[in-house]
Amino acid sequence: MNELKSFPQLFSGFTLKGFRVKNRIVFPPMVCFGYTGDDGIVGPKNLEHYRLRADSGAGIIITEATAVKKDGRAAPSQLGIWSDENIPGLSEITAIVRGHGAVSILQLHHAGLLTPPTVFPVQFGPSAETDKPSSRELTPDEVRELTKAYIQGAIRAREAGFDGVELHGAHGYLLNQFANPLWNHRTDEYGGSFENRMHFATDIILGIREICGNEFILGYRMGANTPKLEDGIDIAKYIESLGVDYIHVSHGGNLQNLPRPPKGFDFNWIVYSGVKVREYIKIPVIVVNEVKTAERADFLIENGQADFVSIGRPQLADPYWVRHVQKGEDINACLSCKPRCRWYESSELCPARKKLKQQSS
Ligand SMILES: Cc1cc2nc3c(=O)[nH]c(=O)nc-3n(C[C@H](O)[C@H](O)[C@H](O)COP(=O)(O)O)c2cc1C
Repeated sequence: MNELKSFPQLFSGFTLKGFRVKNRIVFPPMVCFGYTGDDGIVGPKNLEHYRLRADSGAGIIITEATAVKKDGRAAPSQLGIWSDENIPGLSEITAIVRGHGAVSILQLHHAGLLTPPTVFPVQFGPSAETDKPSSRELTPDEVRELTKAYIQGAIRAREAGFDGVELHGAHGYLLNQFANPLWNHRTDEYGGSFENRMHFATDIILGIREICGNEFILGYRMGANTPKLEDGIDIAKYIESLGVDYIHVSHGGNLQNLPRPPKGFDFNWIVYSGVKVREYIKIPVIVVNEVKTAERADFLIENGQADFVSIGRPQLADPYWVRHVQKGEDINACLSCKPRCRWYESSELCPARKKLKQQSS
């Protein structure tokens, strides 16, 4: 048992677009490869995964990157929303999340140039990549088809009962590729100027808003360094002007031009980017990455540096992270595996989870 601390800011409510959110903790989108089959349909493991995190108490649960097109998955086993057949399983997730009083959002995703050959032999992107002979530039008609696929994904998510969707515009995936001039070398209406590079995202956002209505939450996860933080700030201001309801600030999938937090700023450059972006916009901002503890998350809220804080890997390692924080109970800590989290491969490989299983058996 730890000393019971109340974290009043972290556990304060917030009204997001008319939805009462019970606290400022977000369970961010985190893919669980291996939990679904080639059809991308929600399976029992997905349901159990969300049931535990929702029961624990996060205010917002963002269902993991869900593919709008089968040939744009990031792995052969990824949740999908490319067909109406995906809707019933996703409805089971929303029933669970709502049943535990959390706001439910689904992340819409297409991997673009990062689609692995195990998913599809061709990688589509704003431009072909010179060192990837199997990559190909999307034609304008194909971009319009993909725009429809994202909008259709949002319609299906609404049908499944989600309170909203988040567009995955970070981590070097398709929307991020279009926004970044290092990947987007087009000279047509989808490339060149800032507005043209944002044209694809703009049509998706306006299309979702028009069809899904103003009651539906529409969020955008952006890459702060796209390619530099100053560009990220421009993206955030622009996305806000389109009527998006919140921005979730992560990285842009490249390690160039990383912003440097000033001395005394006790968080990493990704959190710093979120805090910086928030200074330029009025809509709520979710910050993320290695916040790790409730003390640190509470600090960000208390100091007006974030509206919400995503706690990712700690909630993978300890599904009851939120409840344990609230009750002052011991937390099964994430061991920060290097070079990267073992959950990408399989949740079974997570050493913290293994420890938890041993304790409970
Ligand atoms: C196993 C794993 C899966 C992830 N899946 C997604 C995803 O589906 N979509 C996304 O935008 N980010 C994804 N991320 C990034 C997380 O949402 C989060 O930004 C990252 O883990 C940093 O936050 P943390 O330090 O609190 O874990 C994933 C991260 C991990 C480790």
